[in-house]
Amino acid sequence: MWGGRFAAQPSDIMQSINASIDIDRRMAVQDIAGSRAHADMLAECAIITEEDNEAIQAGLDQVLEEVKSGAFPYRVELEDIHMNVEARLKEIIGEPAGRLHTARSRNDQVVTDFRLWTRGALTEAQSGLLELQKTLISRAGEHTDTVMPGFTHLQTAQPVTLGHHLLAYVEMAERDRGRMRDAAVRLNESPLGAAALAGTGFPVDRDMTAEALGFDRPMANSLDAVSARDFALEALAALSIAATHLSRLAEELVLWTSAQFGFATLSDAWSTGSSIMPQKRNPDAAELIRAKAALIAGQFASLQGAVKALPLAYAKDLQDDKRLTFEAFDTFGLCVKAMAGMIDTVAFNKDRMRDAAAKGFSTATDLADYLVRELKMPFRDAHHVTGRIVAMAESEGKDLSELPLQSMQTVEPRLTEDVFSVLSVEASAASRQSYGGTSPVRVSEQVQSWKTRLGLE
Ligand code: ARG
Repeated sequence: MWGGRFAAQPSDIMQSINASIDIDRRMAVQDIAGSRAHADMLAECAIITEEDNEAIQAGLDQVLEEVKSGAFPYRVELEDIHMNVEARLKEIIGEPAGRLHTARSRNDQVVTDFRLWTRGALTEAQSGLLELQKTLISRAGEHTDTVMPGFTHLQTAQPVTLGHHLLAYVEMAERDRGRMRDAAVRLNESPLGAAALAGTGFPVDRDMTAEALGFDRPMANSLDAVSARDFALEALAALSIAATHLSRLAEELVLWTSAQFGFATLSDAWSTGSSIMPQKRNPDAAELIRAKAALIAGQFASLQGAVKALPLAYAKDLQDDKRLTFEAFDTFGLCVKAMAGMIDTVAFNKDRMRDAAAKGFSTATDLADYLVRELKMPFRDAHHVTGRIVAMAESEGKDLSELPLQSMQTVEPRLTEDVFSVLSVEASAASRQSYGGTSPVRVSEQVQSWKTRLGLE
């Protein structure tokens, strides 16, 4: 394709380091779409003839067929998908194929393909998240009043409901989808027609190709068009944040399914055994999600590193953007599906969760709040009095609700039997009815509101 200036072939190692076809063949469909739009525009602007365009379009039909059927002969010596498609077109239609690359460079071509690919991948990643949200909402609906310990510092804090906990991840996934939607909006400008870096002397119509490819407009600066990769960085950042959320949930599944927590059991389909320890049910998928979130974060960091000191405009460093981005989207797609599968089928152990919620003096805040409400104590005093009662319960080896009234009265004589009404974990959770709070009434409302928002039922 560029052999005119050269007398000898590139060395084998040069070919190995330079060829990207094993990666960018995944953009074959986008490359053909870009070429179609470009050729139509060239004909419309009388830069090539209608006959040439017809031959090019018919030839590209066949190339697309071959790509789809798996018959397309990818050749590593042709470097990348762009040269492979053009060379195949030449084999099929002959001379008119050589006119396709008028007013175009691989620099605007590759990033046009890549933007189209990333746009599709962002849509798919959002669908994956939406499916996970549906699963979480359905499980949350089953557990609006299942009480479990809420933690801070992984120390028992206050009782919460499992439904509330699961819906927290629905909120995160919603913001993740929003980030991907936003990234797709900014991404959606067409670099095609920027040519190598400076634009072209041919009378092209960049609005026409932008529209044909579903872009909102052509990019306004040709140097920016061929060099910018912030669309990919933004997609990877959104992906990495979403994967971070999956990883936090994965970590909780690892903890919850341990014998020590015993809050949950993964279904057989999502557990693995040990080759030596017959009792094992390991949460491998959750652990892998935890690790893969780090890989995606690394892919973001790698691309940022590749771009951050790159002078304008195109440099071959940018070829590795696709490997990183494709891998990150593949990994994310797998993780989000695995998470939905685990959540859909995990069995929650309500008794264990309730028992754990009752440990660690989880209703101490309720006692302090009670002293404020009933005895009109300032909260700081109530905190101190409750602390003394907790210390007493601890030294007697009892939970707060098991401590006799007489013992509590040695600390605060005005306490009556009524105090026990706030010391149960159910009462504690039920009392937190502030907007966004953990009480079953609020959680049921939230489940309903999510179902409406996402058009479920
Ligand atoms: N395979 C190249 C890439 O992915 C296409 C652009 C090559 N442009 C160039 N001037 N060598 O970046």
